[in-house]
Amino acid sequence: MRRILPSPGDEVDLAEAYAYPSREWLRLNMVASVDGGAWLKGLSEGLSGKADRRVFGVLRGLADVVLVGAATVRTEGYGPVRPRASWAEPRQGRPPVPPVAVVTRRLDLDLASPLFTEAEPGARTIVITTGSAPGDRRDEVAKHADVIVAGDDRVDLATAVRVLRERGLGRILCEGGPRVNAQLAAAGLIDELCLTVSPLLIGGDAARVLNGPASLTNLAVSHILEEDGFLFCRYTREQA
Ligand SMILES: NC(=O)c1ccc[n+]([C@@H]2O[C@H](COP(=O)([O-])OP(=O)(O)OC[C@H]3O[C@@H](n4cnc5c(N)ncnc54)[C@H](OP(=O)(O)O)[C@@H]3O)[C@@H](O)[C@H]2O)c1
Repeated sequence: MRRILPSPGDEVDLAEAYAYPSREWLRLNMVASVDGGAWLKGLSEGLSGKADRRVFGVLRGLADVVLVGAATVRTEGYGPVRPRASWAEPRQGRPPVPPVAVVTRRLDLDLASPLFTEAEPGARTIVITTGSAPGDRRDEVAKHADVIVAGDDRVDLATAVRVLRERGLGRILCEGGPRVNAQLAAAGLIDELCLTVSPLLIGGDAARVLNGPASLTNLAVSHILEEDGFLFCRYTREQA
């Protein structure tokens, strides 16, 4: 992988390039086609590639928690994060993996799936839901996951982020999907966007990486890396 910006170079240490600048920081990681589509045939897989999967793994290794919307969990068949030997050093003093935190109103989650049955010790899956979610279903979910209630009718993402921080999970890696992303942006919660631009044009009706309320976040380019035609763009929010 080569660095294009800020200074051209060939030896990129990804863990260094993506080090969190602060213990409380929300990073969004997404892959999109050149024309901005966030999925191909309903999944992100067709947009991704070898280097993107490498960056995806490094970002997980650095995070305290992986935040994700329930539709992404369902469509992408999310499991728990699996430990990697290379994470031992960046994760010193932390559990071997970050837990996955799922945002959901309906609680339509497969509690018999590995996401709930195979989470690593110290990284039990977290379900972030609403006060109005069906109570009996919430009790059932609580047997398999840590439940956070953040909001009444819908999850208030600012509250959810605050509660995660209170639990010591300040380095938040959001992996989408676009509907959750748009709400995070509208609430002014996105500190950083890691966007992989896949060398594809796809047309069709895939959502963009934000799909929801209009918002405006000013970004500054922090770095651009390249491998096999994929661009790895790291943007940070400009302070107002
Ligand atoms: N290109 C990429 O990098 C990338 C990354 C991730 C996903 N994707 C793709 O994006 C698609 C899924 O994304 P999506 O935007 O449709 O959905 P999403 O953001 O993953 O999840 C939406 C779901 O999250 C829950 N939710 C969201 N906001 C909520 C709130 N405020 N309160 C309560 N629950 C809330 C709801 O779950 P319930 O229905 O359970 O209530 C809602 O149906 C898939 O095709 C996936 O492959 C692409």
